[in-house]
Amino acid sequence: MSNKNSVFPPDFVWGVATSAFQIEGAHAADGKGPSIWDNFCAQPGAIADASNGDVACQHYLRWAEDLDMIAALGVNAYRFSVSWPRVQPAGSGAWNAKGLDFYERIVDGLLARGLQPHLTLNHWDLPAALQTSGGWANRDTVQHFVDYALGINARLGDRLASITTHNEPWVVAVLGHETGIFAPGIKSRKAAAQVSHHLLLSHGLALQALREQGARAKLGIVLNLAPMHPATDSPADLAQATLEDGRLLRWYLDPLFKGSYPADVLADLGGDAPVVEAGDLQAITAPMDFLGVNYYSHSVVSADKSYKAGSTGLTVTDMGWEVYPEGLTELLLRLKRDYPVPPLFVTENGGAFKDELVGDRVHDKARVDYLARHIEAVAEAMRQGVEMGGYMVWSLLDNFEWASGYEKRFGIVHVDYQTQQRRLKDSALWYRDFLQAQKTL
Ligand code: FCB
Repeated sequence: MSNKNSVFPPDFVWGVATSAFQIEGAHAADGKGPSIWDNFCAQPGAIADASNGDVACQHYLRWAEDLDMIAALGVNAYRFSVSWPRVQPAGSGAWNAKGLDFYERIVDGLLARGLQPHLTLNHWDLPAALQTSGGWANRDTVQHFVDYALGINARLGDRLASITTHNEPWVVAVLGHETGIFAPGIKSRKAAAQVSHHLLLSHGLALQALREQGARAKLGIVLNLAPMHPATDSPADLAQATLEDGRLLRWYLDPLFKGSYPADVLADLGGDAPVVEAGDLQAITAPMDFLGVNYYSHSVVSADKSYKAGSTGLTVTDMGWEVYPEGLTELLLRLKRDYPVPPLFVTENGGAFKDELVGDRVHDKARVDYLARHIEAVAEAMRQGVEMGGYMVWSLLDNFEWASGYEKRFGIVHVDYQTQQRRLKDSALWYRDFLQAQKTL
């Protein structure tokens, strides 16, 4: 057997990832409050197939079966998120015991199966009650988030491997508040900039509060990052790629690791730049135990937006994203070069493809290739000296893919939404065999 992947140490974290709103369903069960995504789905035209998260994968009911399936894959970790309105329906004040009990069953169920629980606090489903007072654009939400983080850690923290504050703050800020294609559907660049600052501030203050509380889990944040490649070497494309790099990467990495916002992006924002109070930037630099990186593709930037994905011959996924594993190695090396990063985890990586169910099988060769090439890209970064802690596939299950509804399938496990039957795709079988081979290298 080839041992080209022996670069992965025995304690490397191998996982699968999901998020609460995308799989749980049970949108109003056992005292759960509505989230901004529940409300967003109700807006006509917001979701491609006019669906919602009411039922999703019924994970709230089927969690034990799902955890068995995760264990059978041979991974050693599971990344999931807590639905804030399930545990604290109004986003502040009273806690919902039944909601907390659910996540306790997940955490204890994982531990009983020998799996590390990696918990994310905010995977976008903000309690709707907080949105009525401005949501993330309101600075008060920062303190509510800190209180929520402390409540979760008090109940579960002694058994968690890691706590992630936010998943992909860029998405919440830009897609949620600038383009408005995600909840809460606001279209204001000024609001988006303020939201990004409040997310980062709440991350820093939560980390500080969690440490004071004696948190035992590793603490960090998850960013969606992509190398920006200019479509041509024209000055306009180069300049645009630099600005996009600033907006997606440096806007988050600079404050987290250097305590400042990048000057070029601030200049571009002009009067839309966020209000930053004294001490905020220092709070944002709170030391982290890990940085999570969600990687799907590189971004090809043309100033006139004329670049067509796939036009240089790269495979394009069902999301329209180019398959470009080299970009993951490039990104990880860049993080190490430009920032004093803690150990890095790939916290999401995977592809949506047009799957076909043939009997009980899904021969998703494109997804197998995607995963194999990206895992090799991680190995290459490690060979070049990047300290990597783990890798997690997005996603365990086909699920509610936000504004795309159920039309896009990212799972390594197929879900029949009529019957809720789960079937392992070839990619799940491949991942299982790959992990088994790791143990015998
Ligand atoms: C990421 C999200 C995740 C999933 C994947 C495809 O941006 O974190 O929930 O939707 O994209």
